[in-house]
Amino acid sequence: LADLSPKQISRVLTHARYLKQVSQPWLQPQTRTELDLRMPSQSLFSKSIALLFSKRSTRTRLAAETAATLLGGRALFLGSDDIQLGVNETVRDSARVIGGMCQGIFARVGDHSEIEELAKYSPVPVLNALSSLWHPTQILADLLTLHENAHLFDSTLKPLPTDPGYLARAKRFIPLPELRPLTIAYVGDSANVLHDMLVTYPRIGHNLRVASPEDAKYRAPKAVWDRVVELECDKRIWWGKDPKEAVQGADVVVTDTWISMGQEAEKEERLKAFEGYQVTEELCRQGGANPDWKFLHCLPRKQQEVDDEVFYGPRSLVFPEADNRKWTIMALFDMQFGKWDLGKKEQVE
Ligand code: CP
Ligand code: NVA
Repeated sequence: LADLSPKQISRVLTHARYLKQVSQPWLQPQTRTELDLRMPSQSLFSKSIALLFSKRSTRTRLAAETAATLLGGRALFLGSDDIQLGVNETVRDSARVIGGMCQGIFARVGDHSEIEELAKYSPVPVLNALSSLWHPTQILADLLTLHENAHLFDSTLKPLPTDPGYLARAKRFIPLPELRPLTIAYVGDSANVLHDMLVTYPRIGHNLRVASPEDAKYRAPKAVWDRVVELECDKRIWWGKDPKEAVQGADVVVTDTWISMGQEAEKEERLKAFEGYQVTEELCRQGGANPDWKFLHCLPRKQQEVDDEVFYGPRSLVFPEADNRKWTIMALFDMQFGKWDLGKKEQVE
């Protein structure tokens, strides 16, 4: 997301909300009063999108496959056991061949350099579906969820209508409400999800408070921090090691697994390093979070980083957040893959 301006990010979110409203299954053709406005774009008609995934995925894969279907196209799941890449073929050659037959590549990789290499050699646009450093599409879904729930943070706002009948009859797009500046706390490992928060939230007016263990391996690597500083995001980031201090005044508390994919061998060491970092009601009460704080998690979730009371409780927005992976990825596919002219690698405008 560091590559997108706040205005571009906002356009992706607005488009995601629009696609969500017009793609609802209860919108049968006969209820589409403004027909064309109520149809999702068919910009992927007759197009194929490669899902080049070298790691597991539930949400990102489902979101991509279902979004491509709604846009009239087809997503091809290419897992590491399916294709030659990594065994008999280089990233460079695979990028050229896959890009020669598909109109977009959505890639989940190990080291971030693989995404850079794919983008360098692919003749079609490449979107990051998660790398060692970043997880941009996750933060788009988080932002959509926060905007849709803006009333939870601002008593002057009314909730967005969710009644299917109302949405089906609504003649116009119901826009996303503005979000007041929030204090967002992240308690846990400095990994891909947090890194995209660091380069995004401060630029759109939110303050970030982060707690992670002091060891440099649990702090943002230089490649990430350089982007944070370049974008002047550091001015709105507080970073310490005490989870209670981090949640002070927090409107939203976020965490992620302590053991990201590929770090399984470090399990014991990590469980020890993160003792005391579990998100609980008690932690947030003692730390002085806003009494109405809400909870986000990218999933998959383990109990060690957040207990059941929070995860399944009324503060938790985690399942609407997971649902929103679909609409935000659909917006990106439409804008980047669907409306892309042959021969041009356009940015979202
Ligand atoms: N949040 C997320 O990326 O989930 P998956 O790994 O299941 O895609
Ligand atoms: N940090 C986690 C995110 C999973 C969606 C990982 O990389 O495994």
